[in-house]
Amino acid sequence: MTLHIYQARLLHYLTESDRTERTTSDHSQTLIAEQDITLLPVIAGVRVYPEYIADGALVIDDETGLIINYGSREAMLAEYVLTTIDESRESVQIHDHRHKLIMPGFIDTHVHYPQIDMIAAYGEQLLDWLNNYTFVTEANFSDPKVAHDTAQFFLNQLLANGTTSAMVFSTSHPLSAEAFFTESHRLNTRMITGNVLMDQNAPATLCVPAEQGIRDTQNIIDNWHERGRQHVAITPRFAITSTPKQLRMAGELYASYESVYLQTHLAENHDEIAFVKQLYPNHKGYLDVYDDMGLLGRRTTLAHGIHLETSEYERLRATGTQISHCPTSNLFLGSGLFDLPKTLNYTGVSIATDVGAGTSLSMLTTLSEAYKIQQLQSNQLSAHQGLYQITLGNAQSLVLDNKIGNFMPNKEADFVVIDMNATALLERRMAQTKTFEEQLFVLMMLGDDRVIEETVIAGVSRYRSDVS
Ligand code: GUN
Ligand code: ZN
Repeated sequence: MTLHIYQARLLHYLTESDRTERTTSDHSQTLIAEQDITLLPVIAGVRVYPEYIADGALVIDDETGLIINYGSREAMLAEYVLTTIDESRESVQIHDHRHKLIMPGFIDTHVHYPQIDMIAAYGEQLLDWLNNYTFVTEANFSDPKVAHDTAQFFLNQLLANGTTSAMVFSTSHPLSAEAFFTESHRLNTRMITGNVLMDQNAPATLCVPAEQGIRDTQNIIDNWHERGRQHVAITPRFAITSTPKQLRMAGELYASYESVYLQTHLAENHDEIAFVKQLYPNHKGYLDVYDDMGLLGRRTTLAHGIHLETSEYERLRATGTQISHCPTSNLFLGSGLFDLPKTLNYTGVSIATDVGAGTSLSMLTTLSEAYKIQQLQSNQLSAHQGLYQITLGNAQSLVLDNKIGNFMPNKEADFVVIDMNATALLERRMAQTKTFEEQLFVLMMLGDDRVIEETVIAGVSRYRSDVS
């Protein structure tokens, strides 16, 4: 076993109970939490605080892949290099990233891996975009080679963007989910996916009869759920492409498990909402269809949720159902302006790319567009709020915050090394900043994959920008 000590500026977000745990441990001297910054929490009532350690160190064990400790560089070196003689430790490796920023790995809560092949497709809004581009590309995934090659390419792109976990749509071919899990398992990334359920209003080649689609999901659960770092999500595409029978069977399957996820889309586009009302004239609205079929709950993530009624927000709150906000997608498809503070007032909101309707896999670029969407509604999105949301907040929304999301000891060592001066423009602009918050805001507005210097997965370096 090798102990790795990463020296860097450290930034992450702590809950109140994380903070209590830290202050009662031996390392209280390292706690530099910013008490006066208020963030909107993803979980109602669970307060969160930024913690920034300018001259810090993160200590990890590459055998377990877990974080051992973090704190000031001086304290960590004293504890793990200078004084401790522990015979079980074969060696200590020091990584010098002083002047770089280390953050927890970014988490993307809604993204379609097969759509990496049709990202940036011109000219349509949701329903035409699906028919003219998306379904055509997804049909290619009947070929296992396409699925494997694309899964591999996509996962490497995630790492190059600093994303270490994601909730992902595959296609309706079970082998597309298998291919994704196989590659993710090899990389040891914590990922969630499932075969997409569709049995109407889509090309015949992509439709799978209700019972067969559910059997496919059941098999994938048996093979992959909680194997290593993989999790399965029951994945009906949306109310339009599933018969009531399929949605109901999906709800029954969801109810039969305690830890399996469910993901689908909700209220993204006005034509979509009108189509759902036409298909389900006797339901109170779009969300009510999912509610009736048993699809809502704490492990459910609904992408978009832009156009909702008050009663629907209330039902999201009552069921613990989470919303995934996808800024670049909403702008690209002209879907509408998502009200972040309003939705957070009702339920957990995570932030996601939604590639291929989204136009970037970078969670930093995604935050930059999220900021502009809030500006158009006279809302603000601070850098701390945004960076909290793409790390600990997204982990909380996915109920993975006991494993990932910040640097608390015993969490999994998924993190990114960020070069805040990666480009000539960033370097020039950073030189003008006076506060750390200002630097973070510049990073959020101008940063993208170019600032990601290294991505570490469970203690193992899996991407470096200087190695192509
Ligand atoms: N609604 C149903 N399917 C999709 C999809 O693939 N992308 C987006 N953005 N919305 C959807
Ligand atoms: Zn989507």
